[in-house]
Amino acid sequence: MSSFKITLNELDTPVKVLFTGYLTTVAIGYLFALIQILFTHGMADGKFGLSIDDIVYSYYGNRSGTVLENKLAGSMKGKASEQETFKIIQWVRDGASHNEFVNGGVDKIIEAKCVMCHNEGAAGIPDFEEFENIKELTTEDEGATFSSLTRVSHIHLFGISFIFMFVGLIFSFSTSASSYYKSIAIGMPYAFLIIDILSWWLTKLHPMFASLIMVAGAGMGISFAFMWLVSLKEMWFMEKDWFCKVESLCKKKFKILFKISTKSIEFIRMTVIPKSIALVKGLFSWIFNKMK
Ligand code: HEC
Repeated sequence: MSSFKITLNELDTPVKVLFTGYLTTVAIGYLFALIQILFTHGMADGKFGLSIDDIVYSYYGNRSGTVLENKLAGSMKGKASEQETFKIIQWVRDGASHNEFVNGGVDKIIEAKCVMCHNEGAAGIPDFEEFENIKELTTEDEGATFSSLTRVSHIHLFGISFIFMFVGLIFSFSTSASSYYKSIAIGMPYAFLIIDILSWWLTKLHPMFASLIMVAGAGMGISFAFMWLVSLKEMWFMEKDWFCKVESLCKKKFKILFKISTKSIEFIRMTVIPKSIALVKGLFSWIFNKMK
């Protein structure tokens, strides 16, 4: 092998822009994936935020109830009024017969409150215009079905391995760590990805594996954040050999720059950050209310 080496710091600016564009876009994608998890799995127990219960309900199921009941207490909470929800649950507990469905007026509730989403045209969610499809959901909740797990497993394995292919490739040109530690950082997300998907299937069989999903998910996130931060730092913020002589113009410029920076950091810390946090909080509750 020749000793041909590329380092992130020495890359041409266009390549740095390319890498930075990719890393930024993927990070935003990651953020949306997390929000998606919060709104689907996170709501499985009816409470906002991700817990072990959410994971158990999503994969193993909440076997004390039927799918319809659990969804109405979870991510479908608030889609119908409390009274209507109660009526649907009553109907399920009374045996979910077709007769009662029509006579009890449950069909009208479904028609008015659910069919706008749960119709023929909707992909991936059951069509409630057919009685059979509702009836199916009145059996014991066994969590994710094998067919949905198969589908999501292969999509995740193919898709996420591609993301880590490029994030890892970019990171492999970094110089902060030795080859040994870099190899560990690059290999870790793949190990966590496989453990994550494997643990979905294990949790489907037994709820005790739910915490493994959390650990693997967190591991993947940490490896991603680490490679992302190191890569960006080395491309744009690597210390260069710039040094100013005392009392030189360079030194004065640097002093001014330093003053401006401390002032702006102060401004960001005291004003921008609190305002941003308030904004994000407001945005979150707005999205949350929209989706209810
Ligand atoms: C705003 C659109 C929307 C409305 C209105 C809506 N749903 Fe849903 N429903 C969804 C989506 C999206 C999913 C899939 C994500 C999830 O499971 O949370 C879903 C999933 C479900 C599931 C799980 C299906 C499965 O196969 O696991 C049930 C049960 C359900 N809804 C019942 C209802 C009932 C009952 C109503 C009316 C009271 C209702 N939904 C109203 C969008 C909607």
